Amino acid sequence: MATLKMTIDKSNKLSKINKNIYGHFSEHLGRCIYGGIYVGKDSPIPNINGFRKDVVEAFKAIKLPVLRWPGGCFADTYHWMDGIGPLESRKKIVNIHWGGVTEDNSFGTHEFLDFCELVGCDAYVSVNVGSGTIEEAANWVEYMTSANESPMTELRKKNGREEPWKVKFIGIGNENWGCGGNMSAEYYSDVYNQFQCFLRGAEKIACGPNSNDIHWTDVMMNKSSGFGKMQGLSLHYYTIPTGNWGKKGSSTDFEKDEYYASLSRTWYMERILRDQKAVMQRYNDINSKHTVGLVVDEWGIWADVIPGTNPGFLYQQNSMRDAMVAAINLNLFNLNSDRVKMANIAQVVNVLQAIILTEGEKMVKTPTYHVFDMFTGHMEADLVYSSVENKQILDDNYLPAISQSVSVDADGKMHITIANASVDEEFDIDCVMPRAEYTTVSAKVLSGEFNACNTFDAPDAVAPVCYDGVKLDGEKLAIKLPKCSVISIELA
Ligand code: AHR
Repeated sequence: MATLKMTIDKSNKLSKINKNIYGHFSEHLGRCIYGGIYVGKDSPIPNINGFRKDVVEAFKAIKLPVLRWPGGCFADTYHWMDGIGPLESRKKIVNIHWGGVTEDNSFGTHEFLDFCELVGCDAYVSVNVGSGTIEEAANWVEYMTSANESPMTELRKKNGREEPWKVKFIGIGNENWGCGGNMSAEYYSDVYNQFQCFLRGAEKIACGPNSNDIHWTDVMMNKSSGFGKMQGLSLHYYTIPTGNWGKKGSSTDFEKDEYYASLSRTWYMERILRDQKAVMQRYNDINSKHTVGLVVDEWGIWADVIPGTNPGFLYQQNSMRDAMVAAINLNLFNLNSDRVKMANIAQVVNVLQAIILTEGEKMVKTPTYHVFDMFTGHMEADLVYSSVENKQILDDNYLPAISQSVSVDADGKMHITIANASVDEEFDIDCVMPRAEYTTVSAKVLSGEFNACNTFDAPDAVAPVCYDGVKLDGEKLAIKLPKCSVISIELA
C-alpha cells in the first residue's frame, strides 16, 4: 500500500467557505418539482401544505442553504403571473424544453417561497430574459419583496400573502448563450445592464459562461461588472461520462474505464475555475476587490436517462461514481472559495445528479446526498492551507487519486474531507499539522463498488458509517484511505 504525505497549516487561513457552495437547483423539469418536492395538499403522501414531508426533513438535515428556481431553460419561458392566484384559474402551458408536457402551474411563486421558508433556505429566483420583458421581471420582484403599497403588493395580499418574502438572489436569465435566447456576449451584456437597472433589493447574478468560455466572461466583466451592477456571474459545467452529448453513457451500467474517464472530466472543473478566476481577477481594482462572485449554478454528472423513462425528464440513477463527482467538485469549490460564492448542483430531486429520488411515497437518499451531509462542517468555516502528495491514476489523462480540502470553523474544530478515486489502490496518508492542538478525532466513511447505488428496495446500500481508520497523535494524523471512498474527519 502506498503512503502519501499530507500537510495542513491551520494558521494559514485562506478564505471563508460560503455556505451557499452547498446550494441546490430545482427546475420545472420531469419529476423535480411535481412528485419530487410538491405533491399537493390532497395527496396521500405525507405532506405539509402540499410539500413532501420526507423531502423537507432530508433538506433540513443537510442544512440546505439556497435553492435556485424555476430554471434552467424553463426560466426563460416562464411567465410568473401564470403561477399565482386560485389554483383552478391558473393557466396551463406546454413545457417546451422538457418533454412537451402540460405544466399546470400549481407550483408557483407562493409555493416556491413558502417552501424555502419551510426548509429555512435562501431563495434564488431566475427571471425570464429570453422571452420576457423588463416590466414583467420588475413586477415580479416587487410582488415578492416589496413592503410598500403598489398594484403588485396589493395583488400579493389578495392572493393570501401579507408580508413580503425575502428573496436573496435574482438570476437575470439563464444560459442566454443557448436556450435563453441564443445571444452573443456583447448583446446579452447590454440586455443585462438594462434589466438589472430595474431590479432592486436582491443580489443580482448574471448569466455566465458555458464551461470555460473566456470571451463571455471577459465581456461580462468588462461591460457589466462595474458600479455594483452584478454581484455574481454564473457558470455551467456538466460531467458527461463519455464526453459525447449524443450518447452520454449509462448511470448504472458502466465499466472501470468509463468511471475513470468521468472523473477525469470532472477534474476539468479545476482548470475552469483557475482560468475563469484569472479573467475575473483582471477586472479587480484596488477599490472593488472580489466583489463579483463566481456562481457555479449548474454542475454535476449528466448521463443517459434510465431506459423506458421520458427522455425529456432527465431521470438517472446515482452511484458511488456520483459521490466521487460530488466530493471532487465540492473540494474544488472550497479550495476556490476566494471567488466561488455559490454552487448549485443539478438538480435537487429526480433530475440529473439528484440528492433524492422518489417513487410514489418512497424516497431514497442517494450517495450524493451523503456526500453533502458529510461536508456540512465546511459551511462558513475558514479554508486553511492543505497539500497532499498525489498520485495520477491514468497514464494519458489528468486524474489525481486524492482530492481534499480542510477548514476550521468558528469553534476551532477542523474538518477534513478526502476522497480516493482509485478503485485499484488504497492509501496510507501521513499527515503533519504543525502547531495543531487537538485531542479528539472522529470520522465517517462512504465507500462501495464504483457503480453501487441506493434503490427503493435497498435504500441504504451506500451510506456513511463511523470510521476508525484515522488516528491522531499530537501534531500527526494517520489516515487509511480505502479504495473508492469519501472520508470526513472532525478534530476537536
Ligand atoms: O439542468 C438541465 C438543463 O441544463 C438546464 O435547464 C439548463 O440550464 C442546462 O442546459
